[in-house]
Order: sequence, then C-alpha cells, then structure tokens
Amino acid sequence: MTRITKAVFPVAGMGTRFLPATKATPKEMMPVVDKPLIQYAVEEAVAAGMTEMIFVTGRGKRAIEDHFDTAVELESELEKRGQAPLLRMVRDIVPPSVACTYVRQSQALGLGHAILCARPVVGDAPFAVLLADELIDSRPPVLKQMAGVFARRGRSVIAVQNVARRDTRRYGIVSIEPRSKTPHRISGIVEKPQPAAAPSTLAVLGRYILTPRVFHHLQRVKPGAGGEIQLTDAIAALLEEEDVFAHEFDGTRYDCGSKLGYLQANLWYALRHPEVGKEFRKYLRGLGMRLPK
Ligand code: UTP
Repeated sequence: MTRITKAVFPVAGMGTRFLPATKATPKEMMPVVDKPLIQYAVEEAVAAGMTEMIFVTGRGKRAIEDHFDTAVELESELEKRGQAPLLRMVRDIVPPSVACTYVRQSQALGLGHAILCARPVVGDAPFAVLLADELIDSRPPVLKQMAGVFARRGRSVIAVQNVARRDTRRYGIVSIEPRSKTPHRISGIVEKPQPAAAPSTLAVLGRYILTPRVFHHLQRVKPGAGGEIQLTDAIAALLEEEDVFAHEFDGTRYDCGSKLGYLQANLWYALRHPEVGKEFRKYLRGLGMRLPK
C-alpha cells in the first residue's frame, strides 16, 4: 500500500471575492480567530500523515513563506522576554519532521494549472490537494478519513457533501450510481453546472487525493469554465481510465473564500477558543443570542 506523504496547497489565486483585504495580503493568511487559514490546512495534512508540504504560490504571496519559516528575530525577542508559551507556539507551526517546498505559478491560469506546476516536486506518487479557503471542521480530520479510503481502494478520492440545488453553479458536481454508499464510485464530474442541469447535488469541497496519472490529463485539458484550466476537466478524463471515489464526509465546512462563510467560521471557532471562548459566549448571550451548549 502506498502511503501518501505529499500535500499540495494551491495558494496562487487572486482572492477577488475578498478585496480589498486580499489586495496585498494572501487570502490564505486571513485568520480564523488567531490562526491563518493556511495553517489549519497544514495541520490537517500533518494529522493525515503527510510530511512534505508543497505550496504553489504566486505574486504577493510571500507572507505564506515567511509564516512557515523560522522567525529568528521574533524568537530571540520572545526568549529574551521569557514568553515560553508564545515561543513554543511560534516554533511549533511546522513540526520538525515536516518539509516545506514552494513552487511558483507565474500566472493565475486556474486551479488545474496550479496543480500542474507542482508536478516536478510531486513526481510519480499519489498526493493530496487542500484548498485552504475551505475550512473543514470534522473528527477525524477529513483528509485523514480520505487517506483511509485511499489505503483501501488505491485510487483517487475526492471529498464531497450535498449542497442546495440552487448553489450547484458554484462547485464541481459529481454523478454517482443511484443508491450507492460512500465512498461512491464517480461516473461523471462537471464544473459549475446550472441547477437544472446538475447531475446531483454532491459538490466537490476542496480536498482531493489524486493518483499521478492526473498530471497527464492536466497537461492536455483546454481552458474550461471561466477560461481557466480546470482540475475538474482533468478528473473527468482520469475517470475514463481509473476509478475515482467520492467520499461523503461528516463534518462542517466553511467557505472562507466568501465573506459569509468566513464570518461563520470565526463565530464557531471563537466560541470554542480556549482563551476567548467563554467570554465571547457570555458577550453573545448578553446580546440576546441563543447558543447551543
Ligand atoms: P478560487 O476559485 O477560490 O479563486 O480558487 P481565488 O482566486 O482564490 O478566489 P476568488 O474566486 O477570486 O475570490 C480555488 C483555489 O485555487 C487556487 C486558489 O488560491 C484557491 O486556493 N488557485 C486558483 C490557484 O492557486 N491558481 C489559480 O490560477 C487559481
């Protein structure tokens, strides 16, 4: 059985839905409470056993590299001030067993193109892809669940969840056999179908485990929806040759690339936060809000 060790994080998008915040700051560095989105994604990959983090970056994304680098001045300042817990937190951002590599996508030609840029580093091995702006709260972490499916099936696995039919135009949507159980064998996949044309309401939500054969197809697909090189189109071609599974996961997903999803994530993560959670709950209750326990 092949163990997956490589995780690709495409972070070269322009984040236009979050302007002006994303004009000079990468979307993936936006914090949910006090931790940037990209760090949640890296932690999820580490929890799933990955040891090589490959970031596909672009213009204006230097802050991501800095975040995962050693901050010598900051560390010596914290040491001088005797702030041991903060020092530990800063040092533990990347565990010692984990390596970070950065490749550059010189033009934002689409998610599929971004993943193709990682090919020289990924090589001929299966790999994971995580879109950091999709924050997924699940136990066990969704990528770990998917690694379990991959271990059993040895084929590509995509995370899916049902969405409202009116929203299918925002996602890649998969077709599956009627009455099949998760993991579903996928029979088709389309990018952003109109609700009336969508083959199902199972949407692809930012987590993939892919066999390296997908690179072959990524190299051949023509620009699709939105004029971008779409990962969905390469997966549709891959399906003709290999099984691809859809893992319908339990858990809550926040679309942090949208303002509403980002605000929802901040609310729920703040309520659970060890430092501010209790006070925040009290504050919201004081405003007359009813909150679950
Ligand atoms: P999105 O569709 O969310 O695009 O990309 P975006 O540019 O980040 O955001 P909006 O829609 O303009 O607000 C999905 C993921 O693919 C990456 C993005 O960084 C994001 O993680 N991506 C997209 C790239 O790395 N390169 C691209 O050319 C396009």
